Amino acid sequence: MHLRCSDPDCAATLDLHDRALSCPVCADLLEVVVDSIANTPAELKRMWLERRCSYAPLDASGVWRFREFLPDCYSEVVTMSEGNNPLVKGHRTAQWCGVRNLNFKHLGWNPTACFKDLGMTVGMTEAVYVGAKSVGCASTGNTAASLAAYAARAGLTAKVYLPAGQVSQNKLAQALDFGAEVVQLEGSFDLALERMLHSPDRDLYFLNSINPFRLEGQKMAIFEMLEQLGWEVPDYVVVPGGNLGNTSAFGKAFLELQTAGFLDKVPRLVVVQAEGANPFAQMWRSGAAELTPVEQPETAATAIRIGNPRSWKKALRAVQHSKGFVMDVTDEEIAEAKAMIGGDGIGCEPASATTLAGLRKAAARGKVDRDAVVVAILTGHALKDTDFIIKSQRFEHVLQGEVQL
Ligand SMILES: Cc1ncc(COP(=O)(O)O)c(C=O)c1O
Ligand SMILES: [Zn+2]
Repeated sequence: MHLRCSDPDCAATLDLHDRALSCPVCADLLEVVVDSIANTPAELKRMWLERRCSYAPLDASGVWRFREFLPDCYSEVVTMSEGNNPLVKGHRTAQWCGVRNLNFKHLGWNPTACFKDLGMTVGMTEAVYVGAKSVGCASTGNTAASLAAYAARAGLTAKVYLPAGQVSQNKLAQALDFGAEVVQLEGSFDLALERMLHSPDRDLYFLNSINPFRLEGQKMAIFEMLEQLGWEVPDYVVVPGGNLGNTSAFGKAFLELQTAGFLDKVPRLVVVQAEGANPFAQMWRSGAAELTPVEQPETAATAIRIGNPRSWKKALRAVQHSKGFVMDVTDEEIAEAKAMIGGDGIGCEPASATTLAGLRKAAARGKVDRDAVVVAILTGHALKDTDFIIKSQRFEHVLQGEVQL
């Protein structure tokens, strides 16, 4: 296996363990190239299912269970049984958004309550492999919590840069609980990422989603989802869009599974951004060739308050390959959709609810058929942002004691 520039016109290659985060020729992001797979899809599907009955740490992970599609050089793997996240049927939510067959893939039900753990297990394992002593990231909160936890497991020092006052207290508390060094910076996430990338600490191993190993783990959400659907490909997969790492990882998963003969078609990828942090949706609508960053991103869904998504080129290729589309929703629509998901007994954090809000809008516009099979990705747990829930309009009267519970 090796690293390759993600721009197909460049395709420069690097050693798998090169610590570069971008191509030395054209500066585009890098990706891990998976070797051709020796087993047939039928053999692998059977082997992966059998591993579900095993308590061996690698088999018990919903990421490493699919390790034939991951680098195989590691003798020490940093894992906490991440993944193994169920597909939960939407009931009232399905009716509300006008799609009959709605499934939520809940990645909030992970060790630190967010999808980041899927990527962090691989990223941290690679950090240990290359001998890193300290790891770092800029974060809207969830990456910080996940990095802090996995660094603690690996015995590495964690340093996280957060946009001051813009991160949910619950996520900040997690990072502190796991012993990370927290730096709060004035300005946006984009600025924090810029600062982190230019940190004078050259020994720091970067674990934002521009790290290609992170995406290797995140792509396994799709492997697991397809296994749960009996390898029947859904019509749509709906995902929130922030820095666009997930969209890129999911596109990579579909492409690899298609190439290896697991799938004869891929679902349409639908990316949903918040209206106040929507550079990718703007670009999609306008048909522009380049992304124009949103200078001051603003949304109550703080996890996706990102104006300059680094993985937009990878994500664009993924959406185009899948014949999907990109859209945005207002904060009001997000809040309403979040309350509906809560009302279905599932719950999620605000950024995750963009999926249901987007789906409802797309169905109303006839862009998603009523009978389509849809999987909406829920990226974070409801308890990730309790302030949002408590401050929500619909609870004001409860807090004032006017409603008999
Ligand atoms: C809960 C949640 N949802 C969605 C996203 C956006 O994911 P991506 O940056 O991969 O687009 C994030 C990123 O921080 C997140 O924390
Ligand atoms: Zn290149």
